Amino acid sequence: GGNGPGGSGKLRFAAVAPNTDDKLTIPAGYASAAVVRWGDPVLPGAPAFDFENQTAEAQAAQFGYNCDYVTLFPIGHNRGLLWVNHEYSDESLMFRGYKDGTSATEEQIKIGMAAHGGSVVEIERVGNSGEWRLVTRGRRRYNRRITVHTPMKFTGPAAGSDLLKTAADPAGTTPVGMLNNCAGGTTPWGTVLTAEENFNQYFVNGNGVPEAQKPYLSRYGVSTTTGIPNGNRRFDRVDERFDLAKHPNELNRTGWIVEIDPFDPDSTPVKRTALGRFAHEGATTSLAADGRVVAYMGDDSRFEYVYKFVSKKRYIPGFDRHNRTLLDEGTLYVAKFTGDSPATEIDGSGRLPADGKFDGSGEWIPLVTGNVSHVPGMTAAEVLVYTRVAADKVGATKMDRPEDVERNPVTGGVYVALTNNSNRTPAQADEANPRSANKHGHVLEIVERRNDAGATTFAWSLPLVCGDPNDPATYFAGFDKTKVSPISCPDNVTFDADGNLWISTDGNQLGANDGLFVMPVRGPERGYLRQFLSVPVGAETCGPLISKDQRSVFVAVQHPGETDDASPENPSSHWPDGGTSQPRPSVAVVWHTEGKKIGS
Ligand code: FEO
Ligand code: CA
Ligand code: CA
Ligand code: CA
Repeated sequence: GGNGPGGSGKLRFAAVAPNTDDKLTIPAGYASAAVVRWGDPVLPGAPAFDFENQTAEAQAAQFGYNCDYVTLFPIGHNRGLLWVNHEYSDESLMFRGYKDGTSATEEQIKIGMAAHGGSVVEIERVGNSGEWRLVTRGRRRYNRRITVHTPMKFTGPAAGSDLLKTAADPAGTTPVGMLNNCAGGTTPWGTVLTAEENFNQYFVNGNGVPEAQKPYLSRYGVSTTTGIPNGNRRFDRVDERFDLAKHPNELNRTGWIVEIDPFDPDSTPVKRTALGRFAHEGATTSLAADGRVVAYMGDDSRFEYVYKFVSKKRYIPGFDRHNRTLLDEGTLYVAKFTGDSPATEIDGSGRLPADGKFDGSGEWIPLVTGNVSHVPGMTAAEVLVYTRVAADKVGATKMDRPEDVERNPVTGGVYVALTNNSNRTPAQADEANPRSANKHGHVLEIVERRNDAGATTFAWSLPLVCGDPNDPATYFAGFDKTKVSPISCPDNVTFDADGNLWISTDGNQLGANDGLFVMPVRGPERGYLRQFLSVPVGAETCGPLISKDQRSVFVAVQHPGETDDASPENPSSHWPDGGTSQPRPSVAVVWHTEGKKIGS
């Protein structure tokens, strides 16, 4: 927190131009390398990657597919543990001749399951530079793969509730594996928070659940009329818990924030039920003025909500056993945003508010505190398992797909990436979501009352309304729009040690590849957004991380080559291995060749 001069850090690099090149494009003076790629050995003894001879056993010991959230736990200056999420598998790019889950071989289905989850890998600095590489020799005693099969446990108020019980787990306390882990966060006590996002796509036979459960399936995006939705991976063919007609509660056991200790490969990952259940984009932590821990969270679907959890007890530095209980007891809130001026439609494409600023006030509405529900007609367990239904009842504000929500550790501002919303109608536009058919998304800034993350009221504004700066509906915090980079579909955010805001994109609607951007949030250059890198064809930019020493930028290059009609016979990307190789989702690192600070 604090009100220092942070957030106005000077950035001198020359912006990368929008492009469609099949490479990682970086500013002059910088270099890049792939650190760890899909299929690289993670566990000692794992075989080398062989695209033409994949097995589930090999994949379970190798780096998974579609890397997303990335965080680094330093071990001294030159070593570290990299945690990486593996959000999902794309079988049509992983296997030759793949059609669908129904015709897939059982081995292909098992490979897909093993390609999900997360990885812990040891990495080492190259020389004294900002470059890092995978450690490929020695014990690597922390290296770990988490998959769809890893035993986990529930804690918090909903653990053991009837809604979480299944035939295989009559106590409702021991879920298995995690699904679709998108973004995440890192706790002050050195653990990972990884977020289960679009878990709805993995289940079949939602039409076969008891009638009373169907509205809850629908509210979470599971069809109650189709048995086998198009594109389903058919995990049910090798593990019947994915068949909702047989195990209707299994759906409730995914969609959580999972806490994992990267330093203990034998530890059991914990699904923290106090943080609610929805299409969790991520969970990022900060401390309230009194030391309570706060987790900010987005629910990434159209017209969903922004949440935060505030612990009951305070964080105590060094008291690990205490700190690891903090996310089990506290209050879950949902955000309501109120505008302060009427909006005027421009060209049917957007709005500008009458006072010239998209801004207003807001409140955090409590949903549940420990075992006490604040939502009439719902128990605490119901609020936590059916959080979307609870938020619907209290008048929270429906947003344009809330992705990362993260507090700037230098200024205390909280930034919400709202990626897009093709379905918003003009009548549904409001000052916090000002565009109908919002193609390019926007970024919302929350300033908590007294700049205290524990507050229950706040002020908000939109520093960025994304798109082509020539589009009159765009806004770059009032900065000269002739100087800024075009940006579309903000997804993940992070900060450097100077408090500058870094934004990565997913699904650029301006015809160029996705990328990573940076913008000061204070001072005369607030709104001066510049593109720092772009990713190869078909890829999304995930997991951006600026190392604490500001010498390295890590990005997860997710789904390179994922374009219409691409296949192993006809790949649209050859990144990172080049030549005629198949594309491989990989974490890359970017550094200044003279060792200068990132952004120089
Ligand atoms: Fe997996 Fe919301 O991006
Ligand atoms: Ca206003
Ligand atoms: Ca994301
Ligand atoms: Ca996204």
